[in-house]
Amino acid sequence: MNDATLRQAAIEVLRGNDTGAFIKPAFDQYPHQWNWDAALVAIGLAAVDLPRAKQEVRTLISGQWRDGMIPHILYPSGASEYFPSPEFWGTAGLAHGPDFPTSGLTQPPVLATAIRTLYMRELEVDGASARAFLEETVPAVAAWHRWLLTSRDPTGSGLASIVHPWESGMDNSSRWAAALERIPLDRVPAFERRDLRHVGEDERPVESDYRHFMQLIAIYRDLGWDAAATVSRAPFVVQDVFFNAVLVRANHDLAYLVRELGQSAHEIDGWLERAGRAFQERLWSEDDGLFYDFDARAGAPIRENTSASLAVLYGGVADARQARRIVHEHLLNPDEYAVGAGARYGVPTTARNNPRHEPRRYWRGPVWINMNWFLARGLRDYGFGDLADAVVRDTLDLIRTAGFSEYFDGRDGTPLGAQRFSWSAALTLEALPEA
Ligand code: GLC
Repeated sequence: MNDATLRQAAIEVLRGNDTGAFIKPAFDQYPHQWNWDAALVAIGLAAVDLPRAKQEVRTLISGQWRDGMIPHILYPSGASEYFPSPEFWGTAGLAHGPDFPTSGLTQPPVLATAIRTLYMRELEVDGASARAFLEETVPAVAAWHRWLLTSRDPTGSGLASIVHPWESGMDNSSRWAAALERIPLDRVPAFERRDLRHVGEDERPVESDYRHFMQLIAIYRDLGWDAAATVSRAPFVVQDVFFNAVLVRANHDLAYLVRELGQSAHEIDGWLERAGRAFQERLWSEDDGLFYDFDARAGAPIRENTSASLAVLYGGVADARQARRIVHEHLLNPDEYAVGAGARYGVPTTARNNPRHEPRRYWRGPVWINMNWFLARGLRDYGFGDLADAVVRDTLDLIRTAGFSEYFDGRDGTPLGAQRFSWSAALTLEALPEA
């Protein structure tokens, strides 16, 4: 498939998943709007259909809670067959909540970066309209980041906490295994799982993990989704290394946009300074040459070798020596992430020698297009341009062979999960040379 055909196929996937107001991540499996999916889709559409990309951002912002949170799932068109349903979340009628049904959790904050991408595009053709878009969207994003760095960081550590694996976006990552195992399953609500209708069981989370996901939702629902109560009483509180790397990059982009509007970015500079210090003092492991999550409930780092620790490069928080260690000791290590014998495509979501690595199961080993994209951006920023090019080339090869799947078995490229997945298509558009 040549570039033009691939581009056309990607556009068709997005068109097929488009409801007008938002683009579904996948037609049947994910029939609502998801937070970081929307941001990635907007980035991919920037060069193809700017008005449509702006619409995606507007719909996402319309789900913002009155306390500032931008939620992880939005149900602008109401319920569907999808579980959890709006009702299960129990967010309707909250004084600090949304205007229409949403989940009660958030997701990695890619939005500011998406808005900057759209702004730079529009600036080339219509400065006034580009600026109006910033005036419309930047205050909402600033309020979300402020919520993350106050409500989700009550001690001012500089790092936002997540309270549910789903907030990481890497829902079923082995990073969460030990923290979840510690939580007794004694408050699991009644529920009926629907994710297995469309995708095979060996590609989805195991039952006990799913029960943990449901129990955490039930606990926060009982706390009325009150941010302060949730952070102080949640059994799962983690300073997620990748979520915070995304937030740092987003704060650089937000500071840039705020200055474009002629306003002071002093508050954001303070967030960046604190985060930079916290990454070095709390998340870096000199022994292992990786940044790790910090489990606030256990009071200890989570020493799991996953691609989250590679994609941290995207946040620009590593110094040059740390970046070299991440690349040479891990990304290029044939036992961990390097492609070669037995692994045709990179980059696996867990290191191959991690005992929790499972090459087909959701976030436990398969290749994800967005993680490759984050990693490639990080590599380029740190001067590893050839490696970034190789990741992008390899990712496009994979898609040409296996289609726009949700994830892939890196050993041979077998497509896994949902098909015609929106961010796989959107990031293909972003990666291809412009038509
Ligand atoms: C899955 C992924 C999550 C994504 C969502 C919609 O839950 O783990 O990252 O946002 O699907 O695509």
